[in-house]
Parts: sequence; structure tokens; C-alpha cells
Amino acid sequence: MTTINDIAVSSTEMGDRIERLGVVGRGPGGGLVRFLYDDAWRAATDLVEGWMRHAGLQVRRDAVGNVFGRLPGTTDGERTILTGSHIDTVRSGGKYDGALGIIGGIAALAALKERAGRPRRSLEVVAICEEEGSRVAGNLFGSRGMLGLTSTAETAQLTDADGIAVADMMTRVGLDPARVPTAARRDVDHFVELHVEQGPVLDDTGVQIGVVTGIAGLRHQLLTVCGRPDHAGATPMDRRRDALQGAAAMALMIDDVTRCSGSPAVATIGQLQVLPGSVNTVAERATFSLDLRHPSDPVRHRLLTEIAGHCRIIADRHGLAVEITDRWEEPAAQMDTGLQQLLADTADDSGVSWSSLPSGAAHDSQLWARHVPTSMIFVPSVGGRSHCEAEYTPLEDCVRGATMLARVLYRMAY
Ligand code: GLV
Ligand code: MN
Ligand code: MN
Repeated sequence: MTTINDIAVSSTEMGDRIERLGVVGRGPGGGLVRFLYDDAWRAATDLVEGWMRHAGLQVRRDAVGNVFGRLPGTTDGERTILTGSHIDTVRSGGKYDGALGIIGGIAALAALKERAGRPRRSLEVVAICEEEGSRVAGNLFGSRGMLGLTSTAETAQLTDADGIAVADMMTRVGLDPARVPTAARRDVDHFVELHVEQGPVLDDTGVQIGVVTGIAGLRHQLLTVCGRPDHAGATPMDRRRDALQGAAAMALMIDDVTRCSGSPAVATIGQLQVLPGSVNTVAERATFSLDLRHPSDPVRHRLLTEIAGHCRIIADRHGLAVEITDRWEEPAAQMDTGLQQLLADTADDSGVSWSSLPSGAAHDSQLWARHVPTSMIFVPSVGGRSHCEAEYTPLEDCVRGATMLARVLYRMAY
């Protein structure tokens, strides 16, 4: 009879795959640019599909481009336990974010098939087509597809920075936007995601595995500050309505308000565009993004209201107008307590150290948790670095995380 300690994933194969997927989409600066339906995305999905086949899984792609590898169960009809993560990256991203959950999920299912045979309940690993919102502001598009939360109409409306609609991108990679509703599934009972922590807690404390308790809620906004274009040399300082000076004051205020609220509130301004963009013209328009997160949705909403109020005061003071547009909102999510316990017990039984921790980063699991019992397994990120080329998790930690995933799936499915 198989015990959980008989189940271990292949370290050589995982190491090789992390490196191989880790160059698909590598830009001139070194980091990865693998955006929804671009050439790198296509190459990456082909690569992981090949690995799923090699593991002897039943492979298919759905209507939004999620790639699945299935290990069919013996007794549960069509019900499924799903694991996996996203294949897209942020701009100049690292090679572990998302990729580890796919590579680790394939390794886990391969190990289970080899060491324990066919499960009672069906297991599937998925390479989710999109999570980051890097190319279009349609975050979690892959999981939303599986949960029936997107539509053909959305693919016509959502465009990238060049004005290309998602529907056209889909056609280019051989997907039919009219079939988007067919991606919806009703057969998934659980979602379990392996991911790098992306923050410093596990690395700082030397703990091997993170049992995620919940995920912070977030809102993305675009703030557009409007002033007046004027000559840089001829317009006295007291006659200006400089949109960038207004935006800069707002940025400093947002940082202050968030710091005063205290940890774990976080606010990030990652994008800024200034128009007309001439060195010798006062800025007419400055548009910047705001990403604000907190594990408590009421606290997050209160902070956003406070920030919006201060932005209006700053705009008035500078003779400017400000417009705030919501782009994405994802409420905070709780991971399933039964699955957290199962993961903690499995780590104890494996002699692996673990601690419970919340996730500041957003994940596909955040959405799945609102629909099915969901859990996340974290492995350390060296120096807490992520969303950059420096993102790194030693192979030993990746393998340990995938082995914990395999053992948890064993307890759930066999
Ligand atoms: C995704 O990684 C996010 O947290 O925004
Ligand atoms: Mn990410
Ligand atoms: Mn991720």
C-alpha cells in the first residue's frame, strides 16, 4: 500500500522545466514578457501541453486557451479536483510566478500516476491562460472563463494598449470567441494552487511551506489629472495649472495615507503617463494607476474614499480637475479551513516545517475561493523578490512544494 512518504516528484525534471519555461518570452532586459495570446504565450502553452502528454495525462484546451491535463478517477463520475496556476507574466516578470504552479502540478500528477496509480476522484492540472492583467485589464480571464464569468461580448470590448480586441487576439491563436461560454465548468469540487510567496515571510523565518489563510482584496484605479498646457519658459510658476505637479502631490499623499493606516495596507503607483509629453511644455494631463490592497474590504474601501477626497482637495488647490476610474476590484478571500488543516497535517507527517500566512499578492485562488473550497501552498521567495527578473526560489524548495501538493492531492483523491 502507498503511503504519502512514497510520493515524491522528480527534481531533475522540475529543474529542467523551470529553466525551459523560464526563457519563453525573455525580453532584451532579461525579464519575461509573456502576455495573453502573444507569441511567447503560444510557445509556452505548447510546451506545457507536451509535458502533460509526456506525463500520460489526457490533454485538452478550452475555448479561452486554458490547457488541461487530466488523470481520470475510477469512482466519482465527472467530478474533478483542479490544481494549477497561470502561464502569463507581468512585464519583465520572473520565471516562478504562475509557472511553478503549472510545472509543480504536472510533476505532482505524474508522481501520483506512477507511484499510486489511478485515483478514485479525477485530478486535473491547468495552465491558466491569464491572471495578471498585463495585456488587457481583464484580470483572471482564464479562471473567469472556467467559472462562467466572462462572455463573448467581453472579448469584443476588452482591448490592449494598441486597441486590439481580445476577440481578435483569440482568432489569431486559433480560438473562437463565440465559443467562450463553453469554457465554463460545473465539475470542479476543489482548487489547490502551488505558488511562490512573492514576499519575505518564509525566507526571513526559514520556514519551508506556507499554508495560506486568505488573500488581500484589491482595487485598481486610473486617476487622470487635467491641467493646462503652457510654455515652459514663458509661463510664471504662479500662473501654471501643471497636471504632473498635481499627480505628484497625489502620489505622495497616497503613500502617506497608506503608511499612516499601517501594515498590511499597501498602495502602488506603477504606471504614469504625461501628455503632451514635451520637455518644454507644462503637462496638460497626467494619468496614473493605483493598486490598493488590504485583507479587510471595509478598511480598503475606507482608504479609497479618503484618498479620493484628498485627491479632490489637491486638484482644487492646483486649479486642476481629477477623474478617478475603477478598473478592477477583487474582494478579499478566505482559504478553506479544512484544506488548510489537511495541508498542515501533511507537512507535519512529511517532517516539513510550515506556518500559516496571508497572501498580499492576488491569485486565481482568490476567485476560485468564492466558488469552491480552495487552498494555496506557498514556497519561499528569496529576499521576498517577485514581479521582477530577480524572483528566485531554490529548486529544493520548488520540489518540496510540489511534493506537498502531490501528497495533499493523494489524501484528497485516493
Ligand atoms: C498578481 O500577481 C497580483 O498580485 O497583482
Ligand atoms: Mn503575478
Ligand atoms: Mn501569480
